[in-house]
Amino acid sequence: MKLKIFSGQISIKLARKIAAELGQKLGKKEYRKFSDGEIWVRYKEDIRGKDAFIIQSFPPPAENFLELLLMIDAAKRARAKKVVAVVPYFGYARQDKQEQDGVPISAELAVNLIMAAGADRILTTDFHSGKIIRAFNSIIKNISAKDIFLKNLKSYSENFFKNLAVLAPDSGRLKMAESYAQQLKNCQIAVIDKYRPAANRVKIKGIDGKVKNRKVLIIDDIIDTGNTLVAVANTVKKEGAKEIYAFVTHGLFSGKAINKINKSPISKLFISDTIPLSYEKRSIKIKLVSVAPLLAQTIKGINRN
Ligand code: R5P
Repeated sequence: MKLKIFSGQISIKLARKIAAELGQKLGKKEYRKFSDGEIWVRYKEDIRGKDAFIIQSFPPPAENFLELLLMIDAAKRARAKKVVAVVPYFGYARQDKQEQDGVPISAELAVNLIMAAGADRILTTDFHSGKIIRAFNSIIKNISAKDIFLKNLKSYSENFFKNLAVLAPDSGRLKMAESYAQQLKNCQIAVIDKYRPAANRVKIKGIDGKVKNRKVLIIDDIIDTGNTLVAVANTVKKEGAKEIYAFVTHGLFSGKAINKINKSPISKLFISDTIPLSYEKRSIKIKLVSVAPLLAQTIKGINRN
């Protein structure tokens, strides 16, 4: 089955890489705005009867999300056979608490809106909410950036892996940390006991596991303000960690996140390209790794089925 790769504005760089991995060029489309800012899109290629993969992350502003919905709707109207929303970073996934009254479950709402726009499937990377993934498991294909991150350690010497502890910054990321630890031999697991007095604020109560005299590898899905990562790094440093590394899939880096990371005891932060990293946000401590090969491989599989 023929497949076509298209991209929304924010994901063009990553989408080009994905298309190249698949031996294609990015599909042509027009993108314009009305004078008041309203978005207008149009495919400039015939996609009738083909599988259209639309690549668009949607960190704020919400225009990124709306653009994805418009592209899905346009692809459906152009009679694409299958429309797959490829969302490397799925925004609004942090609001998923069913136990609270009077708040939205934006993670569920966003999935429903994408499907209502006409998508047949959603492909995403390290989706924040396990609950939502379980609830929509026939619709959402969620892949982990783990293999891409771990490949980066191949150049490190045997010595690097001695006395290594993989650390989850909260119980929500424990499963993610465990799956990394399984692939790293002789490695300990530790988990931080933290709570949030308010959104984006972090208080650490303690660590469950040993980090003293060890190299610590922190695993998380998102960096927003950087408060979690830096508070966790400071805590393990105080507890005697020798060197601190971090693998984080999605880098939002809002506010002074980069400054905080630069001043922190973290030696190296590996971040993926699900969200473009602007020039001002580059840092000697940050190593950017691409999820393009991973997404391309999964797109191939979805297309074959
Ligand atoms: C929290 O549950 C997430 O996994 C991240 O730890 C969190 O979103 C990071 O946010 P911030 O950088 O603002 O602390």
